[in-house]
Amino acid sequence: MAEGAARNTDRKMKSLIDGLLRRMTLEEKLGQLNLVADAGGAVTGAAVNKDAGKKISQGMVGGMLNVWSPDKLRGIQELAVEKSRLHIPLLFSADVIHGHKTVFPIPLALSCTWDMKLIEKSAHIAATEAAADGLKWTFSPMVDVSRDPRWGRVAEGGGEDTYLNVHIAAAMVKGYQGKDLSRTDTVMACAKHFALYGAAEAGRDYNTVDMSPQKMREVYLPPFEAAVKAGVGSLMTAFNDVNGVPASMHKGLLKDILRKEWGFGGIVVTDYTAINEMTAHGVGDLKTVSALALKAGVDMDMVGEGFLTTLKQSLAEGKVTQREINRACRRILEAKYKLGLFDDPYQFFSKQRAEKKILSAAHRQAAREAVARSCVLLKNKDNVLPLKKNATIALVGPLADDKKNMLGTWAVGGDPEKAIPVAEGIKNVAGDGATILYAKGANITDDAELAKKLNVFGETATIDARPPAQMIAEAVAAAEKSDVIVAVVGEAKEMSGECSGRTDISLPKSQCKLLKALAATGKPLVLVVMSGRPLTMEWEDKHASSILMSWFGGTETGNGIADVLFGDYNPAGKLTASFPRNVGQIPVYYAHKKTGRPAPADAFKKFTSCYLDAPNTPLYPFGYGLSYTRFDYSPVQLSNTELRDNETLKASVTLTNTGKRAGAEVIQLYIEDPVASSTRPVKELKGFKKVFLQPGEKKKVSFEITSEDLKFTNADLVRDWEAGEFVVHIGTSSAATQSSAVQWRRSENPRRLAASPKTPPARKHGAP
Ligand code: BGC
Repeated sequence: MAEGAARNTDRKMKSLIDGLLRRMTLEEKLGQLNLVADAGGAVTGAAVNKDAGKKISQGMVGGMLNVWSPDKLRGIQELAVEKSRLHIPLLFSADVIHGHKTVFPIPLALSCTWDMKLIEKSAHIAATEAAADGLKWTFSPMVDVSRDPRWGRVAEGGGEDTYLNVHIAAAMVKGYQGKDLSRTDTVMACAKHFALYGAAEAGRDYNTVDMSPQKMREVYLPPFEAAVKAGVGSLMTAFNDVNGVPASMHKGLLKDILRKEWGFGGIVVTDYTAINEMTAHGVGDLKTVSALALKAGVDMDMVGEGFLTTLKQSLAEGKVTQREINRACRRILEAKYKLGLFDDPYQFFSKQRAEKKILSAAHRQAAREAVARSCVLLKNKDNVLPLKKNATIALVGPLADDKKNMLGTWAVGGDPEKAIPVAEGIKNVAGDGATILYAKGANITDDAELAKKLNVFGETATIDARPPAQMIAEAVAAAEKSDVIVAVVGEAKEMSGECSGRTDISLPKSQCKLLKALAATGKPLVLVVMSGRPLTMEWEDKHASSILMSWFGGTETGNGIADVLFGDYNPAGKLTASFPRNVGQIPVYYAHKKTGRPAPADAFKKFTSCYLDAPNTPLYPFGYGLSYTRFDYSPVQLSNTELRDNETLKASVTLTNTGKRAGAEVIQLYIEDPVASSTRPVKELKGFKKVFLQPGEKKKVSFEITSEDLKFTNADLVRDWEAGEFVVHIGTSSAATQSSAVQWRRSENPRRLAASPKTPPARKHGAP
């Protein structure tokens, strides 16, 4: 929008909202802060709001979440617009997390594409579909960095790295919101969960977090700041406490950092009943915690109605001010205005648009490409993959012909019946040439107790009537008649996602038994692994010929996987979360700090930092992923070996496709800061480029590095760079790089420069 037009809109918005605020009663203002849930939606907590209809017509509700039927939504909107005194439209929100009805791969999978255009497009498609069904606010993206694969919600984020999550956060916000929130193909995004939810102790959901402010700023907060910079309309608070204060009343985070330092003026909404849950955290009764949340900068109370029921009294008692209530109310009204709801509250229900756009061929094709690009090839001994289209294939495993699990966690808008399982995808891609011998081979789990826990949203982990031994025998019989075995194994969709922590992240025992029997046939064994988290797969790594990590792919799962299996698409995905060898190694991540007693590479040496029973390294590192072709890297070339201040360093490598197939490679740039005033990670991702090369083709790929890329937050919370040596690493994964060093000097403060190898100027940020 041109600047003048934007000013005009701002003036119009201000005058409309000023007028409304003058006419609104206190109850009506508190009503705007009230976000209620529909009992028919995805209920993830205790309370479900009562008498929603009555409250809406009395102006006691500002928005509604997780109503998935557009007809129902329209009826609810009519209630607000026609029956309430001031006719203020409702804001309709939902967890549109990885696609609406065209379900894309889970966010962790999408991050493995390292393709920001694709990620942005997936969010745009989700927005287009959601906004045709009346939804204008999505609780996405989840930008929680997490280094704990026990935590079920790693599925919903972009993995362990801050830099990558920063880029994903911006791409998602752009994709959802576009340039104009009032359009019929945009929705307001919500960066969640602010903050540090991904660092929950022991990987157990909702658990406590205690962390240095330095680490927060270095690792966990930057993706939120990136979302704010990208113009995100809202943020959601986290369930956990942070250094003794629940996130939903954390002034240091909400007021000092988010509002003051980053200048965020959008909506802060709590997570589901997070205000009420602060009473269970043990920091006061509902009235106290509701007042504290408002004062800290929360605008909207999701489901709990603490604001609605207690703030009037708190105002009378002087615990909160009219100004604080007005400010929260204004932010919500502003969002409604920007979303075009005051212009026409019904414009986002469009049967015509829904029919044309939702699950359209173009959307499905984009989802199919996303599946193929999300797949990470972890092993491919003797080039067993790609498969020949005229092979006899034993297709086995509990997820090989399954529609119920492949949409993954948080795919509430998706219809499993519209999804393509792997068995169907293989037929679509291989045609009549391939002979497929199918056998289920195993249940996802044989543990009936676990299955019950997994089947809360409908049955997804079915226990077959046949005894496990019989199922395995059927699979072995199919394997013996085949050229190759494709075993589609992994988690049930509810084994990752919210409240799906696991202390053992291996494949369930039923499937391990199946794989052992299959391996014993001696036939080439290809594993396709669906899951929402990194798994421990040491046995699989030793015994399978090939392993393709496909995650949960959404609606087009089967087609996208088959495109990769038969080589119509050459896999180029790279891991965004390290795969531990065993849970005892957790947290294991590439950007770890050094110790004073480094161990020799993967060997035990007494009195160095290592284990008696496992190497320090993960099974598969961050950034790792194979291709059907080979890429060779030249040594790193630097434009300079000495730089000053804001000069730009150019770091280049020449990449050659030395294999026989065209393919893409994600070239990764890491920077190491060997000496600084604070201890620094061994290396940190600072750039990546995805390059496509024909067989035999060569390309020089360059990165520009400035002193911005060298900055870090030190123990005094000063964010800057320090002069000295830096090592530039470029390579195919975090564990396979080549490097070259530079000296980077500062002109200022030459005396201190001489005194110490690194010279930080003093500039303080507020501490959380
Ligand atoms: C989750 C949020 C989600 C909300 C609304 C909560 O349980 O933590 O991520 O957006 O429910 O469904």
